[in-house]
Amino acid sequence: GSEVYDYLKRVADKTISVSFKPQYVDSIPKTYKGKVRDLLAKVSPDHSGIVKEFNLGKILDREIDSISGGELQQAAIAAAMLKDADIYFFDEPSSYLDITQRLKIARKIRTLAEEKGKYVMVIEHDLAIMDFLADNAHLIYGSEGAYGIFAHPQPVRSAINTYLSGYLRDENVRFRDHSIEFDVRAPKHLDKVAKLINFESLRKRFESFDFESSAGVVHKGEVIGIVGPNATGKTTFVKMLAGVIQPDEGKIEKNIKVSYKPQYIKSESDSNVELMLRTALKGRFDSTFFQAEVAHPLQLKHLINKQVNELSGGELQRVAVALCLGQDADVYLLDEPSAYLDSNQRMECAKTIRRVMEKQQTSGMIVDHDVYFMDMVSDSIMVFGGEPGVRGESEGPYDMRKGMNVFLRRMDITFRRDEETRRPRINKAGSRLDREQRGWGEYYYQE
Ligand SMILES: Nc1ncnc2c1ncn2[C@@H]1O[C@H](COP(=O)(O)OP(=O)(O)O)[C@@H](O)[C@H]1O
Ligand SMILES: [Mg+2]
Repeated sequence: GSEVYDYLKRVADKTISVSFKPQYVDSIPKTYKGKVRDLLAKVSPDHSGIVKEFNLGKILDREIDSISGGELQQAAIAAAMLKDADIYFFDEPSSYLDITQRLKIARKIRTLAEEKGKYVMVIEHDLAIMDFLADNAHLIYGSEGAYGIFAHPQPVRSAINTYLSGYLRDENVRFRDHSIEFDVRAPKHLDKVAKLINFESLRKRFESFDFESSAGVVHKGEVIGIVGPNATGKTTFVKMLAGVIQPDEGKIEKNIKVSYKPQYIKSESDSNVELMLRTALKGRFDSTFFQAEVAHPLQLKHLINKQVNELSGGELQRVAVALCLGQDADVYLLDEPSAYLDSNQRMECAKTIRRVMEKQQTSGMIVDHDVYFMDMVSDSIMVFGGEPGVRGESEGPYDMRKGMNVFLRRMDITFRRDEETRRPRINKAGSRLDREQRGWGEYYYQE
């Protein structure tokens, strides 16, 4: 688009100043040594306001290389906002953040434009957040690793709907061979489905964190979404189910085979993707099922000859999801599979997980923060809460409607569905629908 071109030209001419939040906050500690306080002081000596706004007081005197991904992300966004510039550029601000944190930074980024009249650009793959954050959006399409084309900007609602449709009417370009549908699924009648496991309440105590989960049932073919703030024990819970750590109280069923994708994936293998997958999955790798239902939708074709330790974040994630889904198991545990994936890959990944569970009549438990991903993947919802970093607990599994209501009531947001695509959209706080839905207790509108 010409708007982008003008902008890039003025940046190149140095007639405007730019503040930039980089995509990979994980690499900040590699180039920057010091405390969070020093990072902010380098941008501006007067940073007490932003510290308060972002609640950074607790981490101000921590070394940059010792804080969590979510804390690092918030510090990096705060530093970018602190800088006095004409244009602000945020590359994937939601990574590592939970929903509450995503909404909070989205509101703050908006104030740069609304109150200070700045020009703000954001690259974001969480479409619920993008929808909430932006006025206009550019769609970028093209071929992975080959080329990208910027389409003209559109109001964000139609940009996202166009994106989902796979077809740019204005330019008569089909950039995906199918549209992405949000089917408003009839609830599964899980009471009529065979149970796979009854799980007991599990308890785990760390030095400064105490976790207790609810007892529950997992049915065959059911996908349970796990939602909740950061540091409330989601990963701890999944690790106990996976047998990676032992609970202090409560037992895990022993005869259930579990396949597990950790939240933080490492790429230590020095073989290529194909060899790694073949070695791990054995004969299953060549099965029609794996190739058609896992490798194809996750677009492994492009990656198969690459070295595992040279994959980008998103490539590694797709390989890790494939490795998890390719195993022979009863329960598949995936901790934050949408991280590093673009919007399209997220939705393909969600549908892949569902299809594999349905076809194999196996069960999935999926931790994630992306509402579109959760909407597509889940039959039921477990809600985590407590006091982050101190105490965690879980509720459910509940059916989608109840689970999302419990969760969104706590997050203090309501969603409606888009009339055209049925995708969930965050209601503006205090709008007529927001007030009505709160009155009805329907935070996640199902119709
Ligand atoms: N091995 C451990 N030793 C001590 N504390 C831990 C350990 N693992 C996790 N924690 C703490 O437990 C809390 C919950 O962590 P986690 O289960 O990763 O949360 P979530 O996945 O919901 O973000 C955090 O405060 C974390 O620092
Ligand atoms: Mg986690």
